[in-house]
Parts: sequence; C-alpha cells; structure tokens
Amino acid sequence: MRRRNKGKGQNKNLLSAYGVMTSIYDGVDMQASYWHEKWKQGDIAFHQFKGSPLLKAHFSALQLPVQSRVLVPLCGKTRDIAWLVANGHHVVAAELHEAAVVQLFADMEIEPKVMHLVEPDLIHYQANPNGLRIDIYVGDIFRLTETLIGKIDAVYDRAALVALPLMMREKYTGHIRNLTDNAPQLLISFDYQQDLLPGPPYCVNRDEIVQHYGDNYRISLLASEDVKGGLKGKIAANEEVWLLQKNT
Ligand SMILES: C[S@@+](CC[C@H](N)C(=O)[O-])C[C@H]1O[C@@H](n2cnc3c(N)ncnc32)[C@H](O)[C@@H]1O
Repeated sequence: MRRRNKGKGQNKNLLSAYGVMTSIYDGVDMQASYWHEKWKQGDIAFHQFKGSPLLKAHFSALQLPVQSRVLVPLCGKTRDIAWLVANGHHVVAAELHEAAVVQLFADMEIEPKVMHLVEPDLIHYQANPNGLRIDIYVGDIFRLTETLIGKIDAVYDRAALVALPLMMREKYTGHIRNLTDNAPQLLISFDYQQDLLPGPPYCVNRDEIVQHYGDNYRISLLASEDVKGGLKGKIAANEEVWLLQKNT
C-alpha cells in the first residue's frame, strides 16, 4: 500500500490541501484553537496508549549515551516520555494543551512543580524522577528559546511535523534546527497521496524532509510500514521512520 506524491507537485498538492483547511486552520491562533477543540472533544486518535512501537524499535539508532537530553516537540500526553525516562534520558517537551500535560504526569504517577513564566509566556511543568529531569513547557512551541531549554542532544518527532500545515512546517523545522543546533533526530512521518485526505496528519515524504533538513543533516530511512487498515481507515499510507544525523 504505497502511494507517493513525487517532487515539486507535492507542495502544490499540500498547498491546495492547506487551502481546503483554512476555515479551521487559518494562522497560528486558529491552529491553536483547532487542537484545543480536539483535546476537549477527546478526538485524539493519534494518542498511543502503550506508546510508539517505532520509538522502541529504532531509538537506539541515535546512539545516545544515558542522561541525554531529548526534545519531544508537540508532545500531547504521549507515553513515549515515560519510556524515554525509563531508559535513562532527560526530556524537554512542548505542548499547547495544558490538560494533556496534566494527564501525562498523572499517567506517570509523578507530581510536577508548576511555574508560570512571564517572558516567554509559558507554563513550565517540572519533575525529577530518579535523578532525571522532565521539563514540559505548555504553550506555543515557537515561544521556546535556546536559552530557556538549554542544550539538546536529540529530537524525537512523532506526530509533530506531520501535525502542521506546510507553511508552519517550514517555520517549525527552522525553529527546531535553531533550538537544538541541528541535534540528531528520530522522525516519524506519513507518506500518502495528500489530495485524498486534507490532514492532519499531513503527508511529509522524503522530498519534503530533504527540503527542510537536507542542508544540515544526512537523512536515512530506517523503516517504512503500511498503515494497517489505511490512514484514518481510508487512505493507503506508509508510516516512515527517519534518522537525521548532523552533517559534519
Ligand atoms: C498529532 S498530536 C501528537 C502528540 C504526540 N506527539 C503523540 O505522539 O501523541 C499534535 C500535538 O501538538 C500540539 N500542538 C499543535 N500545535 C502546537 C504548537 N504550536 N505548540 C505546541 N504544541 C502544539 C497539539 O495540541 C497536539 O497535542
């Protein structure tokens, strides 16, 4: 079940898909209300109750020493954070919807400290399980700065890049590169025929990944799996795992 948009045509398709979405997804504020509404409605099919099997299968490709600091952008209430901590890593994360972060800590049975930051305007949830640090910032990821979050050793992007429309993906990938000084990434994306489904999740195929990250990273495909039953039960799609290693 593999369908791909090829080359330049893809962006055109993505932009037309973005056009379809503008009534609910027009600019940063509308993007935020779209996600807040999804959380309020419990419409969170992206959430994996046991975490991502692809993280468990491929995280070792990053070859990180224990106590590395891993950035999890657009984290939702992912169980993957508990897995990263159980495997000895510090986690820094960002999420718009505060109730998701409250639930994330409740699921881990950890009571975080909560601090309201003024500049940048964010809420900081912080905990220290087993001598490791979890720092989750509630608010728009674009408010995070390098100074605020400190040195990042790797990025784990699952359902983050693919959650954003094309125009925001360009801004997001630049922001992640700047925030992390091009730290290596494990990136999980979808490849499917964009004009069959408006997204999110959006199709982010090899050509687009190269477009965003090719100047700074060596990019390798670690796995590509059919989405069983199709994406949203409708569309043939592949879920792909990418290793991005900083160009030396
Ligand atoms: C598709 S979900 C993925 C969540 C998580 N990565 C997972 O694997 O379950 C995308 C998440 O990004 C959050 N989000 C969207 N835009 C954001 C932004 N600009 N800043 C921070 N979080 C954002 C949404 O609230 C949502 O929880």
